[in-house]
Amino acid sequence: MPRKVSYGVDFDEEYDAYDDYRDDYDYNHGNGIDEHETAWEPPVTKEEIVYQNVWRCPICTYDNDEYMSSCDICGVLRNPLIKSSNNGQSSTVDGICTNFGASMMAKSLFTSLPYESPRGAVTVNFQPQKDDSSRKEDTFSLHVHGKFHDLHNAIISEKSYKVNIVVPNLEKPSTSDAPSNKKIENANLKSNPKSSNKSPPLISKDKPQQMENNNMTQTHKISNEFNNITMSGESGTSKIANKGKMGKTVSRSQYKPEKWMLLDEGEDRLSQLNLAIVGHVDSGKSTLSGRLLHLLGQISQKQMHKFEKEAKLQGKGSFAYAWALDESVEERERGITMTVGVAFFNSKKHHVVVLDSPGHKDFVPNMISGATQADAAILVIDASLGAFEAGIDSAGGQTREHAQLIRSFGVDQIIVSVNKMDAVHYSKERFDHIKLQLGVFLRSCNFKDSNVTWVPLSAMENQNLVAPPSDARLLSWYKGGSLLEAIDALQPPAREYSKPLLMPICDVIKLPSQGQVSACGKLESGALRNGTKVMILPSGDIGTVRSLERDSQACSIARAGDNVAVTLQNIDANVVISGGVLCHPDFPVSVTNHLELKILVLDVQTPVLIGSQLEFHIHHAKEVARVAKIVSLLDAKTGKVTKKSPRCLVSKQTAIVEVMLQGEVCVDEFSSSRALGRVFLRSSGTTVAVGVVTRVIVDDQS
Ligand code: GTP
Ligand code: MG
Repeated sequence: MPRKVSYGVDFDEEYDAYDDYRDDYDYNHGNGIDEHETAWEPPVTKEEIVYQNVWRCPICTYDNDEYMSSCDICGVLRNPLIKSSNNGQSSTVDGICTNFGASMMAKSLFTSLPYESPRGAVTVNFQPQKDDSSRKEDTFSLHVHGKFHDLHNAIISEKSYKVNIVVPNLEKPSTSDAPSNKKIENANLKSNPKSSNKSPPLISKDKPQQMENNNMTQTHKISNEFNNITMSGESGTSKIANKGKMGKTVSRSQYKPEKWMLLDEGEDRLSQLNLAIVGHVDSGKSTLSGRLLHLLGQISQKQMHKFEKEAKLQGKGSFAYAWALDESVEERERGITMTVGVAFFNSKKHHVVVLDSPGHKDFVPNMISGATQADAAILVIDASLGAFEAGIDSAGGQTREHAQLIRSFGVDQIIVSVNKMDAVHYSKERFDHIKLQLGVFLRSCNFKDSNVTWVPLSAMENQNLVAPPSDARLLSWYKGGSLLEAIDALQPPAREYSKPLLMPICDVIKLPSQGQVSACGKLESGALRNGTKVMILPSGDIGTVRSLERDSQACSIARAGDNVAVTLQNIDANVVISGGVLCHPDFPVSVTNHLELKILVLDVQTPVLIGSQLEFHIHHAKEVARVAKIVSLLDAKTGKVTKKSPRCLVSKQTAIVEVMLQGEVCVDEFSSSRALGRVFLRSSGTTVAVGVVTRVIVDDQS
């Protein structure tokens, strides 16, 4: 998760065109579609990119592969329609994308692009595997930006790695991948000798799943299961010592904190609140975040003008506020968020760290990596007709998946921002309809009604964000508070200041010229200050904290809950990798590839079997996992074993399983560290199970 946003510096000083800029920014976008977007003209300063065998979506300008019958980003149907190769996959709601596989372009972005690499257009002919009969074409062209060798690697991995999913009755397989976490991570992993034999991108061969029960009324009750998963890490089986690679078994409870680590009672400090902004693609998450930052003074007027002007120049005028968070060229060109954007503002009670997540299904791994730090969340809903329905659709709606994921991260307070109310004329009926439908689903995810706040708003028209609405239509029926008031009402969780240090590494920033390396992430427990000795896992090297930065400002102490950049010295930069962990040298967590998990299987069509190959996510790490054993099936309510060694797991079942990972991860049992003990299992671009680590298994190495 790159720190894409740094508002500490006004990089706009030399913006000389500012004075010429007109103040009358045009908000007349209808359903969020700017008039300019339909008439895309590439900026003259840019190298023109020639795409072949793709069709450009007239709405979001995304270049879709030729065989797509609807836009992979916004779901708009291609006009004129072509005969789709995805026979049988019809839209459920008009204009809603039902294609399950990750787009090739998005795949290549995950797999290959290093951070801020020079871009050029490359066209490659991609030969599908012979057994890939789901595609009608023998070849199709893939157009991506990036360095050629990275692209080459992406294609090679597509072609050469076959993951053998042992699934009976498997229909015609098709290629699909599960992208790696982030471009910056990839770059770092590549430079790390320990990760040189990292697993290739997981390529699942099972058929894209098409869930049938799209209807909200058919939402399954999984609250008890979520309860068990989120509240308890006990497996009911006997535990063995949590002894990882580091070989130390000192209990964290024996730790005696130093005085400086503890929060001074008299210290006048706003409480830290890590707030994930989640929701379906294009619901307005980045626009909402950008607008909030602007209204709260974090983005200067001058800077905002710059965004507006540049966005207009690119034919993306309506994305001006989103540009505050969508910083990369790719994100801006496509009008979608790809990596989590981080920004901050102060409310009356909190110092809020905004984690603006990507909504597109291809980028859920990035969403997991970023939003796993969240203390609370804003679930952004697009109120426009058809858009809410798309988000809640069981076949690929990210409102559903994000809500489930957020809950399984342990987040129990959520603000539902029903955005784009302007597009439905601030209709009370529409708001009530959404509240009713979504409320049922959120309850099924075990969100308590009392912890869910509903706020109708329009980010674009600045209605009900930081002040009461001014639009008479909304005022006539809405009597609640603004979004900012709802944020202030959130309760930050209790922090583990007095526990040993634990900081999962989200990002790594290297400045080779200065011989510096910084690890970024959220302190889950303990505290840090200059001079503190830390162990860097998985390598086990010991380094010293040289300096600390919070919100782009140097600070002397960072405590649990803080989102910081820790610059280290006396350390080989290559051992600091995202997915790794900084910890107290005497209290290392385990580094292992063999785990026992307690999982809840979500709505899946393909059962989980022994041998099933899945994508394993834990804090900021990702690995290929194989289900080695299904130990037992549990009663969802009591947690008692109902069946030993079942052959498979289906939707809504809770079970104890053992997984073998292709590479090692830094992990702890959920009972000792929630942050390092929560896992997510994904396949074919969807989350198939959420769970907790119940046991770190030490294999005898003779
Ligand atoms: P991803 O990060 O790619 O999932 O998208 P997002 O949820 O961040 O959406 P984004 O902020 O990029 O906005 C998508 C589109 O919705 C843009 O064209 C915005 O202008 C538009 N939009 C956002 N908020 C509103 C709103 O309140 N009303 C209307 N009419 N359009 C909006
Ligand atoms: Mg966004």
